[in-house]
Amino acid sequence: MNEGDGMNTTANLAGSFTLHGISLTVNRLGYGAMQLAGRDGDKLVWGPPRDVEAAIAVLREAVASGVNHIDTADFYGPHVTNRIIRKALHPYPGDLIIVTKLGARRKEDGSWLTALTREELTTAIHDNLRNLGVDVLDVVNLRGMFNLHRPAEGSIEAPLTVLAELQQKGLIRHIGLSNVTSMQIAEARRIVPIVCVQNHYNLTNRADDVLIDELAREDIAYVPYFPLGGFTPLQSDALSEVASRLRATPMQVALAWLLQRSPNILAIPGTSSLVHLRENLGASKLQIPAEALATLNSIHEQRKEV
Ligand SMILES: NC(=O)c1ccc[n+]([C@@H]2O[C@H](COP(=O)([O-])OP(=O)(O)OC[C@H]3O[C@@H](n4cnc5c(N)ncnc54)[C@H](OP(=O)(O)O)[C@@H]3O)[C@@H](O)[C@H]2O)c1
Repeated sequence: MNEGDGMNTTANLAGSFTLHGISLTVNRLGYGAMQLAGRDGDKLVWGPPRDVEAAIAVLREAVASGVNHIDTADFYGPHVTNRIIRKALHPYPGDLIIVTKLGARRKEDGSWLTALTREELTTAIHDNLRNLGVDVLDVVNLRGMFNLHRPAEGSIEAPLTVLAELQQKGLIRHIGLSNVTSMQIAEARRIVPIVCVQNHYNLTNRADDVLIDELAREDIAYVPYFPLGGFTPLQSDALSEVASRLRATPMQVALAWLLQRSPNILAIPGTSSLVHLRENLGASKLQIPAEALATLNSIHEQRKEV
């Protein structure tokens, strides 16, 4: 289960999941493209990567290995990540689903601003279409921006209505949500069908435990962002101990835990490294036994007690 194992065994990446009410089926282990943009000092996800060819190689190998779900946004870079995806993969394989998101824009200093007006959303749709080189976007997530870092209550009716209109015009196939509460999901589902929800969740951030189970009952995909902990990957003695017991790496265990947590979870680990990509894809063949699951679940319990 160590680095480099991924290539021969990943054709079926942790089984598949069919998005709610529609005929889109994706392998449960996908890829998040945010890490393909560069950084400029403190400005993260900003500008081109140091090595564009390496970024292209990561995307091509992901798809060659069976990844058919890529998560992106036109505000990564901005525009950079989508243009690299297009350069690497266009014309796209028929089964590839590219999921993008709207709701933010970047200021010159790198900060993330809310972009949820009708004009901003419409411009963002056209930016995504142009930079990805497609006539219609497979799935667009509307990102809640009441708080940049966590779901916060507030109505999303106005921006969602705009997205629904753009869907009616044929520019979007399916709509999802990101950084949202259960109340916002319920509000959204009264306006338009929702096929997936993308919130922050991983071994140590389990605020959405109840929500995941609710969505599983409705067959709606839950796509955790920061599945490996985000910019500072997860570190925990218990995780390392389980990984060494299972002859896997901590990141493989973190991903396999997500995939075992609930059948509606789709993983989109991000990496700019081929070595890490192969390691992460290797998680699809890792089964975590019950006693190791108990140890992993205790990581969160211990954090709650501190
Ligand atoms: N909806 C939202 O608000 C939102 C927010 C954030 C992210 N996202 C989406 O979620 C996706 C996943 O999140 P993420 O990429 O930010 O975080 P992540 O997948 O949790 O972790 C990525 C970080 O882990 C490192 N990494 C990856 N594989 C590794 C391995 N095997 N060993 C050690 N380090 C490893 C990466 O560095 P290397 O490049 O060096 O591998 C990177 O620093 C993003 O790509 C994006 O599409 C959505």
